[in-house]
Amino acid sequence: ELAQIGVTGLAVMGRNLARNFARHGHRVAIHNRTYAKTESLLAEAGSEGTFVPSRSMADFVASLERPRRVIIMVKAGPATDAVIEELIPLLETDDIVIDAGNAHFPDTIRREAQLKEHGLHFVGSGVSGGEEGALKGPSIMPGGSRKSYESLGPLLEDIAAKVDGEPCCTYVGPDGAGHFVKMVHNGIEYADMQLIAEAYDLIKQGTGASAAEIAEIFRTWNEGDLESFLIEITADVLAHTDAESGQAFVDLILDQAEQKGTGRWTVQNALDLGVPITGIAEATFARALSGSLPQREAARGKLAAHTQAWDVQDRDAFVEDVRQALYASKVVAYSQGFDQIAAASAEYGWDIDRGAMARIWRGGCIIRARFLNRITEAYEREADLPLLLADDYFADAVGSSLAAWRRVVAGAAQNGIPTPAFSSSLAYYDGVRAERLPAALIQAQRDFFGAHTYRRVDKPGSFHTEWSADRSETALDDDEA
Ligand code: 6PG
Repeated sequence: ELAQIGVTGLAVMGRNLARNFARHGHRVAIHNRTYAKTESLLAEAGSEGTFVPSRSMADFVASLERPRRVIIMVKAGPATDAVIEELIPLLETDDIVIDAGNAHFPDTIRREAQLKEHGLHFVGSGVSGGEEGALKGPSIMPGGSRKSYESLGPLLEDIAAKVDGEPCCTYVGPDGAGHFVKMVHNGIEYADMQLIAEAYDLIKQGTGASAAEIAEIFRTWNEGDLESFLIEITADVLAHTDAESGQAFVDLILDQAEQKGTGRWTVQNALDLGVPITGIAEATFARALSGSLPQREAARGKLAAHTQAWDVQDRDAFVEDVRQALYASKVVAYSQGFDQIAAASAEYGWDIDRGAMARIWRGGCIIRARFLNRITEAYEREADLPLLLADDYFADAVGSSLAAWRRVVAGAAQNGIPTPAFSSSLAYYDGVRAERLPAALIQAQRDFFGAHTYRRVDKPGSFHTEWSADRSETALDDDEA
């Protein structure tokens, strides 16, 4: 009997996806460049379902029913292209190739076009949830042609995480849309993690609480609005002690955050689109700062602090302030991420349904959270919501956290605690709600040194002032400007 779906690339993510399909009763063709990995999968999990192993790519392809559905789960980059090249001559019209790795979306757009020329469907799909998610139910964000989803979608929905009986998988949009949305998911993941880290640091430095005590605070938080996978694992990490020394484990980890690049891609794309995703950008740069060793070495002990003694009078009230600041900053990060999805959707012609994205992020993925229900509801109220932050629910929620948020950011500044994500999110909030911004002055400066022109509040058109001469003003035709 032919297999319904195939997975090539059996490192941990590919392996777990294959097992997930098998556990759901699908016959799964499996293939790996070196056969030992295939054998070990069969030895470890062969009894979980029906696996159809092959040693060669040709046999693997031949073991699949048509239209063939082949999932590539190899390292993003040249390895993916190599597998695609190998597959193309073996496949037939309407077969579907799925790249479920963290590919960069421009690569996905290129590959989709390449396979289309061969009459094949290429589906770049985000898959989130790490190893455990892949095995037990990830959040899945497939792009590519809508037609491919007809045949592929039901299988993916079957293995995806479920929330209230709904699968955390839906068709995202054409070509690179799926990988794009996964990229922004990861950007938000960076922001979420940085905000949590800042909250931890504030409580630690503000109250002197131990890691174990802070773990308890996070456990409590996880029972309210902040309930999420990342808060939950943070509590677990903070409660963990080193087996050898008995010390808080977190204190023994080198404080240099690494990244594989999805956060950086998110920020690069936001710069291209001109979308201010300050929370995600600060989170990405905070990782970069932590790894800037020569700079940190040069600054340590040399740069003055001039801080005030931190005087937290009421510990519980302070912790509650931090919780509210975290919530408000988190809303900003998501609002910015959804803005980026909207901008990209318009720019690349993807027609992405933001409410549906929030819905499929409710379960399975790294940023899964109770809060995402609220985002889905906001987009249900208004599908084209221009600013998530300005949705009635979120505007109220953030508004009622505002005093706490300002106290925390002000306190952190006075006490010399770096809170790049908390502070920049508050600055964004104040910027986006401002009646008038100093951008007017920037326009005048640009016109002064570069004759770049400006618009006026009191009349239409573009203008230039002769700054270095008689300061007379000329109105310009718009195409001249
Ligand atoms: C997920 C994760 C996953 C991976 C990140 C880690 O959604 O399952 O986001 O994709 O853990 O890529 O990213 P960094 O190494 O860049 O922190």
